[in-house]
Amino acid sequence: MPAIVLVGTQWGDEGKGKATDLLGSRIDHVVKFNGGNNAGHTVVIGDQKYALHLLPSGILSPGVTPVIANGVVIDLSVLIDELDGLEARGVDTSLLRVSANAHVIPPYNRVLDKVTERFLGKRRIGTTGRGIGPTYADKMNRVGIRVQDLYDESILRQKVEAALGFKNQLLLKIYNRRDIEVEEVMGELLRHAERIRPMVTDTALELNEALDRGETVLFEAGQATLLDVDHGTYPFVTSSNATAGGACTGAGVPPTRIDRVIGVFKAYTTRVGEGPFPTELEDEAGELLREVGAEFGTTTGRPRRCGWADVVIGRYATRVNGLTDVVLTKLDVLTGLDKLPVCVAYDVQGERFDEMPVNQSDFHHARPIYEELDGWTEDISGCRRFEELPEAAQNYVLHLEKWTGARISVIGVGPGRDEVIVRHDLLGSDDVH
Ligand code: GDP
Ligand code: IMO
Ligand code: MG
Repeated sequence: MPAIVLVGTQWGDEGKGKATDLLGSRIDHVVKFNGGNNAGHTVVIGDQKYALHLLPSGILSPGVTPVIANGVVIDLSVLIDELDGLEARGVDTSLLRVSANAHVIPPYNRVLDKVTERFLGKRRIGTTGRGIGPTYADKMNRVGIRVQDLYDESILRQKVEAALGFKNQLLLKIYNRRDIEVEEVMGELLRHAERIRPMVTDTALELNEALDRGETVLFEAGQATLLDVDHGTYPFVTSSNATAGGACTGAGVPPTRIDRVIGVFKAYTTRVGEGPFPTELEDEAGELLREVGAEFGTTTGRPRRCGWADVVIGRYATRVNGLTDVVLTKLDVLTGLDKLPVCVAYDVQGERFDEMPVNQSDFHHARPIYEELDGWTEDISGCRRFEELPEAAQNYVLHLEKWTGARISVIGVGPGRDEVIVRHDLLGSDDVH
């Protein structure tokens, strides 16, 4: 099974980092293909906790080649800080490859991201303020700066001047901010150019060659299905394709080569930032999920909005991504709750929707229709086989599996690397269970 895509199925923070880490030593290359340092993946290995933003989580597994592919937007200072931070903790980062076609996040786009949000006021998206949206907009407007531009100073200067000609008008005239100097931008972009030069390459070529050799490549999505710019809850989304198809365009690997798509689904739902969220709980139950699940953003520290599981979304993610397997995370967080409502359909002003409404306003008005399952009280963090789970927990998993239509191959029962139940091998066709 050489090419595997791993995606989030909800609004992010499902535990993709941990799922990637699980595959760890069995993969040869791990590829980040979308987004930038808006992502935040926490991986717990023994008593060590790592927070990754720009580097794919697989970098923590020795011998795995991490790749930042063309679809990523790179904040160079963040990249260097993250590399230095990992090296200081003894993680080898020397194998990192960076696409010459990836775009860089220039300082003016960080400023624009923040001032645009402030300007939008109540209509803000609640972005991470990292300059992600403006940088993808520049890419589509064909005024972006790519990694390869860092190695031709006169071209880089021309591009920065062209971009600033426009951006400074915006900053000065619309947003009432100070303008930004060309030299300031050049200084920041060139500061780290030489350091990353040895890593810069044609990553699409290298990945296709690796697949030709029969090596295993894991494409690790940042963000998630409902934050995807095409398939998410637009406009409350990020600015890249976080669904499985994004791996092909974001890494230059054709769809015919993808063998497997793993979706990470949290046993309940969370969302950071603004936008519709039908099962959101604004009461003590939501507070409890936030406390027990430690639902605070890895990137911005913001409290995550919490709610019950929603299998309409689960079915949608199964379909849009073509999921072959699901990693169900954080089942342990539900321990101790008497009843576990699961949203199976929506009521939109009296009409029942079994699938995601295509119309944005309908989704904003969607009220969850719940089926209630029984909870359990036993501590499940020590369970390593499906049969060891209390019957009610087994029942919860089997219902999610039936309702989402994707087989649940792995179940997370704690944040640690070994706190999992494996029902089916994610890389093989054999059934462990
Ligand atoms: P990502 O962005 O999808 O990689 O997810 P985050 O790292 O932002 O958030 C997931 C959080 O849940 C992290 O703190 C993980 O350590 C933690 N986590 C992952 N799986 C489990 C699990 O099965 N149980 C518990 N209790 N925590 C988990
Ligand atoms: P991981 O990879 C959760 C959300 C932001 C905001 C919207 C747009 O850790 O799952 P952006 O800065 O991307 O323009 O913000 O998307 N968002 C995430 N929410 N997890 C993430 O990443 C996210 N990346 C972006 O909160 O609502
Ligand atoms: Mg996260």
